[in-house]
Amino acid sequence: MNHPTFFDLIDTTFDFPQEGIDIEGEHLLFNDIDLYELVQTYGTPMRLFYLPKIGEQIKKARLWFTRAFRKYAYKGDYVYSYCTKSNHFLFTLKETLKNDAHIEVSYTYDLDIVEYLASKGLINPEEIIIIANGFKPPHYAQRIKQLFKAGFKNIIPVLDHVEELEHYMDLDTEDPLQIGIRIAAEEEPTFEFYTSRLGIRWDWIIPFYKEKIANNKKFKLVMLHFFINTGIRDSAYYWSEFSKALNMYIALRHLEPSLRYFNIGGGFPVRNSLGFKYDYEEIIDEIVSQIKTRTLAEHLPEPDIVSEFGTFTVGESGAHIFKVIGEKIQNDTETWYFIDNSIMTTLPDAWGMDQRFILLPVNKWKSPYKRVNIGGLSCDAYDYYNSEVHLNNVYLPILDKKEPLYIAFLHTGHYQDALSGFGGIKHCLIPSPQYVVVDRDPTTGELKHSLFAKHQDSQSMLKILGYV
Ligand SMILES: Cc1ncc(COP(=O)(O)O)c(C=O)c1O
Repeated sequence: MNHPTFFDLIDTTFDFPQEGIDIEGEHLLFNDIDLYELVQTYGTPMRLFYLPKIGEQIKKARLWFTRAFRKYAYKGDYVYSYCTKSNHFLFTLKETLKNDAHIEVSYTYDLDIVEYLASKGLINPEEIIIIANGFKPPHYAQRIKQLFKAGFKNIIPVLDHVEELEHYMDLDTEDPLQIGIRIAAEEEPTFEFYTSRLGIRWDWIIPFYKEKIANNKKFKLVMLHFFINTGIRDSAYYWSEFSKALNMYIALRHLEPSLRYFNIGGGFPVRNSLGFKYDYEEIIDEIVSQIKTRTLAEHLPEPDIVSEFGTFTVGESGAHIFKVIGEKIQNDTETWYFIDNSIMTTLPDAWGMDQRFILLPVNKWKSPYKRVNIGGLSCDAYDYYNSEVHLNNVYLPILDKKEPLYIAFLHTGHYQDALSGFGGIKHCLIPSPQYVVVDRDPTTGELKHSLFAKHQDSQSMLKILGYV
């Protein structure tokens, strides 16, 4: 009997093909990109970005909200804002802006990006909403004030701390500065802390509003923000936090008619396994339905719903491709496939947060497979990957002398560069992989690829280290 092939394994375990993931012959297609061909052109290791996916994700979210708004005769708007920290590259921002996203920022330097985008005519300062989150050191608050004075009318610092307001007290302006308040959410019961360090504690919000904001003409409270660390999930914990935030919105809205944005933060996941199940539309339906019901009962207008999806916007655009450069069989059951870079430094989420990604071979789909551990090049014992979401193993095609095996981690577009750094010094001086960007011709729809950044070279590291 023939040994089943890698294709047989996937075909019998999952619904396959899936959106953006298919095969042609023996090769993996990622959003129609033949990854094997791409590897022949550029080599490995490779970090890949497929830009059109960003627009597709934004459109999907808008469609789900539109459907829910129609269903519940919801009169507020939906504001899609992109959380820059999940992927800061210019090509990413451009893509989100092409799709009319607004921007959520986290630190002073983000505002330099905002200024750059305005200088290139990519955003209109009068129209774009800039949501400025995070604990604000004085220089961050200073930049917010500068941008506000320079005409960014809709820059909204979201107060993370009651003392933050002091930073804006010296603003000399006819038009009030719009502000938001972030609620400090209760953490999941399994976490080390009860309450998030981010945001203002629940019981201080109303007294703080009454004392410092209500009668101050410099400010207009427009937004209530909450963000649940563990993401938007259909769990008792999530809905309980959601409902507390909604109650706070309602209490504040009774006091402050200018309050109009209910910001649900980020937290939409991306597919991290071929067995991934998550009903985005159902969750959005529930969010909209709850807000509608509660505000209707209180005779209040529905708020505009703001989201700050980072992972959801960019995650499914990204992939990492490696070559298997050697195999070691260390005992009767443990086989290692060594790749040409490091898991730890290229996919820090996998190492640091036990995040899983969709892992598939780029070629050899018709070869038999076996259970392996994937090892990175660094000397660190933790530089490995050996489990998937649905099972505690990784299976990949067996190696042969005909052609090397390439493997792809899919849906890695979010946070990896922000956590690992792009360039810079890495564990064991293993360099950042090259970065290839794939787009489609707007008229013909044809795929076109280009090299955004070459493999990091030795000189760039030695320079940082003081050798050059
Ligand atoms: C305030 C805020 N908004 C949005 C996000 C984006 O979250 P996600 O990438 O899960 O969508 C984060 C992530 O840390 C955040 O802290």
